[in-house]
Amino acid sequence: MDLKNIDPVTREALDHYVFPLVSKEAVKAGEPLILKSGKGMEVTDIQGNTYIDMMSTNTRASSLGFANERIAKAVYDQLMELHYAGTFAHVADVTIRLAAKIAALAPGSLTGTTFGGSGSEANENSFKFAREYHIHKGTKPYAKKIISRWNAYHGATMGAIAATDYLGTRNITEPGVPGHTRIPAPNLYRTPFGMDASEVSEFCADYLEQQILHEGPEYVAAFIAEPVMQGDGVQVPPDDYFKRVREVCDRYEVLFIADEVITGFGRTGAWFAMEHWGIEPDIMSTAKAITAGYGPLGASTVSQTIADTLPIFSHLQTYQGHPGSCAAALKTIEILETDDLIRQAKENGAYFLENMQRLRDLPIVGDIRGLGMWTCIDFTTDKKTKEPFKDDTIKRIVNRMRDLGVLGGEEGTAIEFSPPYIAKREHLDRCVDVAEQAIIAETRERGLG
Ligand SMILES: Cc1ncc(COP(=O)(O)O)c(C=O)c1O
Repeated sequence: MDLKNIDPVTREALDHYVFPLVSKEAVKAGEPLILKSGKGMEVTDIQGNTYIDMMSTNTRASSLGFANERIAKAVYDQLMELHYAGTFAHVADVTIRLAAKIAALAPGSLTGTTFGGSGSEANENSFKFAREYHIHKGTKPYAKKIISRWNAYHGATMGAIAATDYLGTRNITEPGVPGHTRIPAPNLYRTPFGMDASEVSEFCADYLEQQILHEGPEYVAAFIAEPVMQGDGVQVPPDDYFKRVREVCDRYEVLFIADEVITGFGRTGAWFAMEHWGIEPDIMSTAKAITAGYGPLGASTVSQTIADTLPIFSHLQTYQGHPGSCAAALKTIEILETDDLIRQAKENGAYFLENMQRLRDLPIVGDIRGLGMWTCIDFTTDKKTKEPFKDDTIKRIVNRMRDLGVLGGEEGTAIEFSPPYIAKREHLDRCVDVAEQAIIAETRERGLG
């Protein structure tokens, strides 16, 4: 974005906004897009440039696109009816109705939900549920430790960030919250320690078992994992990985928390990603697509056993289950159902991934993978060693795509696409064409192949 061309009031206002994860130099260079308006799949910046949003915004929250009148109206109506209720002694009826709707949709016996305002808060609540469960159950009353995975992202608040590894955001908060440790995750392209992909699932599950034994099973409350990990782009696990994880967790009475903050509510072509492997977590965290970005909300949903074990859940927050966000969520879910958008996400996602495979032969493309409406292109300087780029090649390809009117996301070693579920095939085709154009241009300019 050329800052010379933006209006002086916005330029001056820029000095007062502290950008997360963007350096001051990058802000000065006009890197962050300042968005002004959006409609459907398209979003327009303050200079009037319009882009196809193939990321559902860079957080993947805007899963139904921009300016959805049905959701906006539902929020408006709710705010005029009852904009706020409170938290414990008062609660809005819409908040309770949303919990019931989630119970109807969530896998198996996941039936009880409490709300926070974000994915991070959902995970904080999930950790609290796990610890409080063990206290009340009594067999492992000292179980407080949480095991997560290398390269995981679970959020920005102190507990969630302690379980996080990706993006380097944890380091500045260290020594952080005690009791968190991390183990390898089943990445199939750049496998742990370069092992054969066929060994990854067993190795990662065995590692979890060893870590539980090392920490002391009686002290380990829960294991948390993203069903499909975002770090370095859409890490779809081997088919049997979560079955093995479930078995290990059950063996040591360690609760399994599925962090479905990105994957929940349709992203992977199922209501919840764990459905792909038929595995039920004990606790599930959701956010983002729960409201399609039309309100801040996070949900932590627990099994009937956990709900029955807790005489009381010791937790409160002023804005938990805000009526406006809950109304947005109920309407979002209704639209997913009535417009059959999850089936569409599954079918269009498969089409998108298949179409993208033609880029595999480009000299710097190492892998192309995905699940549902979530795909990525992973880059390498050497197809044999799978060495990732350490310079700004990936950022430059993303920027080239942006200049050609398509927004993708830089995701570590990869470029990611997580389009809104309303994307038409013409948007998906255009994205693949533009990605190809940008990769070829970058490859040529840098003499890379
Ligand atoms: C898997 C996952 N968990 C948790 C979070 C944290 O959610 P939030 O940013 O809403 O706090 C994110 C955010 O990107 C996420 O991707």
